Amino acid sequence: MVEQLLRVFRFMNQSLWQQIQQEAAKVAAEEPVLASFLQVTILKHDTMLAALGFLLAEKLGCNATSALTLHEVFEEAFGADREMEDKVNCDILAIYNRDSACQDLFSTFLYYKGFHALQAWRAAHWLWQQGRKPLALVLQNRISVSFGVDIHPAAQIGRGIMFDHATGIVIGETAVVEDCVSILQSVTLGGTGKETGDRHPKVRRGVMIGPGAKILGNIEIGAGSKVTAASVVLNDIPAHSVVAGVPATVVGTNNIEAPAELMDQGLSGCCD
Ligand SMILES: CC(C)(COP(=O)(O)OP(=O)(O)OC[C@H]1O[C@@H](n2cnc3c(N)ncnc32)[C@H](O)[C@@H]1OP(=O)(O)O)[C@@H](O)C(=O)NCCC(=O)NCCS
Repeated sequence: MVEQLLRVFRFMNQSLWQQIQQEAAKVAAEEPVLASFLQVTILKHDTMLAALGFLLAEKLGCNATSALTLHEVFEEAFGADREMEDKVNCDILAIYNRDSACQDLFSTFLYYKGFHALQAWRAAHWLWQQGRKPLALVLQNRISVSFGVDIHPAAQIGRGIMFDHATGIVIGETAVVEDCVSILQSVTLGGTGKETGDRHPKVRRGVMIGPGAKILGNIEIGAGSKVTAASVVLNDIPAHSVVAGVPATVVGTNNIEAPAELMDQGLSGCCD
């Protein structure tokens, strides 16, 4: 679905950033109180990545690591990743498609802290891959303090990801989250405390993880599965399963290819 929307924008010969700027210009004209804010955050920037680097630096800067310093870090990290713009586009459209409260693209860019946490994590991940671990850990800390989202820089996360509400999301060092996954607030992808090394969950494509779910250990959540709210998952889950409970058990199979895209959090689509 995200890929289809991106194709529509390309067909219209318009980038997502142009669309966001048009929306912001309209709001600035209608609500003059917001005009200078929208000018500084959106309208003055030629590209989405330039605006994103500025926005994240403003949100994450502190006395010890200033916004100016972090701005340079984001510019370097985003500039080095040729796929960064595509990842950001997919993540914005994932929110726009899936969050029924989301009315437009520009407010997704400006206000969704799950989106901000994920994009700042992408910079931390790049730094980690470059061997610049101390700086990556500074970013992890700033993201955790500012957004309440704690993702280890070494984790692996795809694109088309939505962190809805986002507060309290924790993702461990060896976790994998494939493309097109939705994760709600207070979800932990953590270790059991009994394993070392590769010890965190592997979440396959299209999975929907409901609020408060705790997925613990080096286990696999199969593609297209649904983990319902407050489940504690301790074992592998086959693809297209629906799991619920503490400890979680498979309560049905799921006939939806990617529950993450539909934000299908209940037992609907459950065939058993
Ligand atoms: C790891 C953990 C889930 C279970 O550890 P454990 O004590 O070794 O227990 P086991 O895995 O052997 O399970 C023992 C039984 O209790 C059950 N069980 C485990 N956790 C449970 C829970 N939270 N609620 C209810 N039952 C639970 C298991 O299903 C198992 O039942 P069974 O014997 O009928 O199969 C538990 O200790 C825990 O929650 N640890 C905290 C880990 C954590 O917070 N990680 C996040 C880090 S960011």
